[in-house]
Amino acid sequence: MRDRYVILAALVLFFVLVTAPVWYARAAGEKAGGPDVKLPTQEKACVMPVDYMRTSHMDLLISWRERVVRENIRTWTAPDGTVYTVSLSGTCLKCHTNKAEFCDRCHDYAGVTPYCWDCHVDPAAIARSRP
Ligand code: HEC
Ligand code: HEC
Ligand code: HEC
Repeated sequence: MRDRYVILAALVLFFVLVTAPVWYARAAGEKAGGPDVKLPTQEKACVMPVDYMRTSHMDLLISWRERVVRENIRTWTAPDGTVYTVSLSGTCLKCHTNKAEFCDRCHDYAGVTPYCWDCHVDPAAIARSRP
């Protein structure tokens, strides 16, 4: 019988600990919603709906990569019919010109370090490094 109270107390403690980051952030006055990324100003829409891009841009990129590297297909048709050239630097970064304050800012926040930039380039960084 007494186990019931022990279990209940443990559950309450568990709940408090699990939700700690949320109320800690509230108390510290942080706004919910993640990092403040710089969106393109010259374009209105991404290649896919923004909700999909937020959660699944990496899946799209991997399928783009396989399209090119394994099948040598260099175009991709979006659900809305727009045809894009399949390219990380040439297409994604053509609209998202500010990699540092877009891709990197969000990845730093999320603690992910995509290794893509070992080989792929940020055209803006190259332009800056030219004399
Ligand atoms: C070891 C070097 C290397 C790494 C690391 C790498 N790639 Fe690539 N990637 C290539 C090469 C080489 C090609 C083929 C280029 C071509 O044929 O135009 C390519 C092609 C691609 C393409 C299609 C063509 C283009 O210009 O973008 C995409 C998309 C792509 N990679 C995405 C990624 C992503 C996403 C990552 C990280 C998760 C990544 N790659 C990591 C070397 C690399
Ligand atoms: C034609 C221009 C264009 C291209 C190409 C493009 N994007 Fe976007 N992207 C946008 C715009 C504009 C938004 C903001 C859309 C909105 O807020 O409704 C966006 C939003 C996003 C978001 C969500 C950001 C957020 O608000 O949380 C991600 C992630 C993203 N893009 C990644 C990519 C990747 C990866 C590629 C290449 C596969 C890519 N984009 C190609 C214009 C583009
Ligand atoms: C709104 C936040 C956000 C933005 C903006 C964003 N990413 Fe990401 N990205 C993430 C998160 C979160 C992950 C890790 C997801 C996971 O591990 O499941 C990720 C993972 C990735 C991965 C897979 C890395 C790996 O090692 O698994 C690639 C590739 C990638 N992002 C490319 C991009 C590129 C290119 C851009 C800019 C054009 C971009 N992302 C912009 C949030 C973002």
